[in-house]
This record gives sequence, structure tokens and C-alpha cells, in this order.
Amino acid sequence: MGTEYTTREIKQKYDDSASKYAFMERVQEFIGLKRLRRRQVGKASGAVLEVACGTGANFQYYPTECELTAVDVSPEMMTHAKQRAEKRGLEVDFQLNDAEALAFPDEQFDTVVSTLTLCTFPNPIAALGEMQRVVKTDGRILLIEHGRSNNRLVAWFQDVRADAHAQQLGCHWNREPLKLLAQAGLSPVSTRRTFLGIFHEIEAQ
Ligand SMILES: C[S@@+](CC[C@H](N)C(=O)[O-])C[C@H]1O[C@@H](n2cnc3c(N)ncnc32)[C@H](O)[C@@H]1O
Repeated sequence: MGTEYTTREIKQKYDDSASKYAFMERVQEFIGLKRLRRRQVGKASGAVLEVACGTGANFQYYPTECELTAVDVSPEMMTHAKQRAEKRGLEVDFQLNDAEALAFPDEQFDTVVSTLTLCTFPNPIAALGEMQRVVKTDGRILLIEHGRSNNRLVAWFQDVRADAHAQQLGCHWNREPLKLLAQAGLSPVSTRRTFLGIFHEIEAQ
């Protein structure tokens, strides 16, 4: 197992890199993430919780009827998200909160959205457990995740570089999102894998 980081260390990494993150985001959008965000986030409805919203890259894709609450652990990332929401005239209830200990009652939300986060949470299974706890029984959990490729060469490279990559933003790019869901006791109702098997669109109930 490689280096693990605490939530405090991860918060610091994102606080320090929030401005640079906007550029990295443009690269991600360029390689096709935009399409995945539009498709997945567009399915949200009702009272929505976005877990680890970052700079708010998903905000533009929510249907207008959604009532959005967004949490993140990094105040600097959230500052960017607030500016983005303001620019778009979106009303968002922002709260600084740890994904692994959400400050919401059970079954509060119709939809929980989280994107590109299971790679970073120190305990992704705990975070999935929290998403499961706060979503209504008939609600939906919508995820876009990235992880270990199903191409052997790419997966080998990800394994070799995992520690070095994680040093930047605490992102463990060779985690396996579907295995994490299974360990958290969540059954996906739909999954789609793209881009050399690296990206996953996952819907769970
Ligand atoms: C790779 S970024 C993804 C941001 C955004 N979801 C997106 O799709 O662009 C990971 C985000 O997770 C946040 N984060 C990491 N650990 C967290 C935790 N334990 N609780 C809440 N947010 C966390 C970071 O601050 C960062 O904003």
C-alpha cells in the first residue's frame, strides 16, 4: 500500500492548489469529462447534496428545479465554487463538511452527487456509507469516478506512479471504484466505463 493522507493534509493540499485546479479542470473537460458531467448530473432531482463539490464544476449541469446543498472540506475550493454559483445566479447552500461525517440527518436528500472524489477521500468506504445514510430510500446516488484502468499496460503505469501521483493532491488513481462500492454494501443500478476503462459513471440506489 502507498502513502495515505489524512483529511487535514488533503484539505491543505486543495487549499494550496485551488487556483491551479481551475486549469487542471480545463484539461479534464477537454478529454471528455464535460459529456460525463452533463449526462450524470443532469439526472439529479429534488433536494440534492453534492459531496466534495470542489470548484463547482458540476453546477451548470443541474436541472433548474434542483435545490442544491454543496459540501467540501477545503474553504479555498469552496470560494471558487461560490464565485461560480454567483456568476450563474444559482442558489446553493454551501457547508464546510467532511464527507466521512456529514452533518445531515438520515434520508434527507433525493439525490446525492459526487464526482472525482473516491480517489481522494482517506476512507472512501466511510464516505460512501455517509452518502447512503443521507439519501432517501428511493433516492439516487450519482457518481463519476476514475480509477485503475482495465487496460493492463495503463494499469501497470498507474500502479508504478501511484505514490508520486498521490503526492500532488492526495489522488490515488489506481483505486477501484466498483470494488469500493461493493465494500460499502452499495449495488449499482447502472455503470458505464469509458476512456480506457479509467472513468466510471455509476448510479446506485
Ligand atoms: C479531485 S477534487 C474533485 C472536485 C469536484 N467534485 C469535481 O468533480 O471537480 C476532490 C475534492 O474533494 C474534496 N475533499 C477531499 N477530501 C474530502 C473530505 N473528506 N470531505 C469533503 N471534501 C473532501 C477536496 O477538497 C476537493 O475539492
